[in-house]
Amino acid sequence: MAHLLATRKPTYSLPQPFYGDADFHQLDLEQIWHRNWLFAGPECAVPAAGNWFTMEVGTTSLVIVRAADGVVRAFYNTCRHRGSKVCIGEEGKAAKLVCSYHQWTYELDGRLLFAREMGPDFKAADFSLKQAHCRSVGGYVYVCLADETPDFDAFSQMVEPYMLPHDLKNAKVACSSTLVEQANWKLVIENNRECYHCTGAHPELLRTLSEYDSTDDPRMPPAFATRIRAKAAEWDAEGLPHLSQNSPDKRFRVVRLPLANGESMTMDGKPAVKQLLGKLQSKDLGSVRMLSLPNSWNHLQSDHALAFRVLPLGPQLTQVTTWWLVNKDAQEGVDYNTEEMMQVWAATNDQDRILAENNQAGINNKAYEPGPYSPTIEFGVQNFIDWYTGQMAEMEPAQQGLSGGVIPIHRAAA
Ligand code: FES
Ligand SMILES: [Fe+2]
Repeated sequence: MAHLLATRKPTYSLPQPFYGDADFHQLDLEQIWHRNWLFAGPECAVPAAGNWFTMEVGTTSLVIVRAADGVVRAFYNTCRHRGSKVCIGEEGKAAKLVCSYHQWTYELDGRLLFAREMGPDFKAADFSLKQAHCRSVGGYVYVCLADETPDFDAFSQMVEPYMLPHDLKNAKVACSSTLVEQANWKLVIENNRECYHCTGAHPELLRTLSEYDSTDDPRMPPAFATRIRAKAAEWDAEGLPHLSQNSPDKRFRVVRLPLANGESMTMDGKPAVKQLLGKLQSKDLGSVRMLSLPNSWNHLQSDHALAFRVLPLGPQLTQVTTWWLVNKDAQEGVDYNTEEMMQVWAATNDQDRILAENNQAGINNKAYEPGPYSPTIEFGVQNFIDWYTGQMAEMEPAQQGLSGGVIPIHRAAA
């Protein structure tokens, strides 16, 4: 990997092994997924004590659970007896976490409460579930598998002002969907980071969404630039932050942008939900577009929010989960219709799945060689690849199978 990182063309897609080799995938897990903060899911997916959901980071399963003290924690989903997975499935509700193998029983805060026939010297206190770092930012839960966590305050300070008006902490999950895609996780993120493919692939999405992802996109038609200026003045008056912000390493970004048409990403552009989120007053708030690499993008609209989570299941296998969040007082069938609300992004996700899988299949071709990113429309992909290759270049020489030395890495000009 070190050799390929040093010799690759920096403005081209990655060499073949990055998109599917098992050893490279293991390095991705260690260097990206086990070191960085990851989006786990919306906090309102665990609304009450005993609610839990799982997430699979490679072969490491975590369970996110709310305990009786109201705190949301993340545990490694492996029993302290002989290691069985404790929580089976994607989500559930339980008074205690009971391992299905020999019924070791854990409190919702991870303490072992009960284990049969373990002898007089057995100390349950030594066998709590292991915790991963867990933080809530603006109503979203993030976890980190590293011993020492990287800074996350800069991210939370950047995005919370954009998130808080939508009051996602007190929203509810109206519905969710999970897709498993036969593609490396980086192809799923690359696909998300550009709209070069949108005109050919996403008729439902383009009814409302603008393909321009930042306020200073030179390709932007004057009419849309005028709309942005008008909406910016309204949002300033309402005290809603909207300016585009990026972390210096381009790992995180947030911006509020108007839609091209309509007020919400639905088939007719009308809000899908009668009640707006939080205490929002205006329907026409476009969407807060929020990116946190390596595994989440988001759209926060006036009436519903969309949260996307990407997880690496294998070298060429990726899970994409989408949550649709609405005001917790909104009633299904009365205030919103789930099928109608899901229509645009269910179609879009499936179209993107097919694109990512075809991308993977083509990269597996013996004739594949890296090709150039468009400098004007694929800059988001370039930013992602720059961040990814930078992270991988920080690997310890021993991990890379090298005797030592700094790895030279070509970085794209910003
Ligand atoms: S492995 Fe969980 S109780 Fe035995
Ligand atoms: Fe897409």
